[in-house]
Amino acid sequence: MTSLFEEIAEPAPDDVPVNRVSVTVNGKRRTADIEPRLLLAHFLRQGLKLTGTHTGCDTTNCGACTVLLDGKAVKSCTVLAVQADGRDVTTVEGMATGSELDPVQEGFKDEHALQCGFCTPGMMLSARALLNENPEPTEDEIRFALSGNLCRCTGYQNIVKAVLWAAAKENGQDPRQAVARYEAAQQGRAQQNGAHQ
Ligand code: FES
Ligand code: FES
Repeated sequence: MTSLFEEIAEPAPDDVPVNRVSVTVNGKRRTADIEPRLLLAHFLRQGLKLTGTHTGCDTTNCGACTVLLDGKAVKSCTVLAVQADGRDVTTVEGMATGSELDPVQEGFKDEHALQCGFCTPGMMLSARALLNENPEPTEDEIRFALSGNLCRCTGYQNIVKAVLWAAAKENGQDPRQAVARYEAAQQGRAQQNGAHQ
């Protein structure tokens, strides 16, 4: 076997077993000879240099490594690359179409839903998976869908707004009005709670 991976210069030691995998990543077929223990996250980052997929914990907690596998959100630090054989993977690098951002990306930008950005790729792909299945999620559904993604910077308020923004845009509504309605409802709830104290 000559190469561990077509994009990696280092050859695999001869005594390491390898599997040939063929994975469509962001619409492009990638074929590689890899060790069966290689994680999908490392396949993407080190093999394909798609470093938008972040690894924060390597223990399935933080969600920074979330990608879409056949359209479903998965934590790529918990999936073996061989499990992606013959399947479709979307990383954050594959969200935009040319220069046109995915509405989820636009929502994060418009609603200031990031600070350091480390959690953002995983957040956006979890949000993308949610909207693909549920185009009109409630606040609770958004919070539940993102509950496996941790952010240490922003709090989650603007992230929820960003997803509402994207949902509205995709449903042909005015995204800013949708967010304004949500904010007004929240204020109403806060006032009611205050009145009951
Ligand atoms: S790096 Fe995969 S969940 Fe944290
Ligand atoms: S924006 Fe920094 S961890 Fe989420």
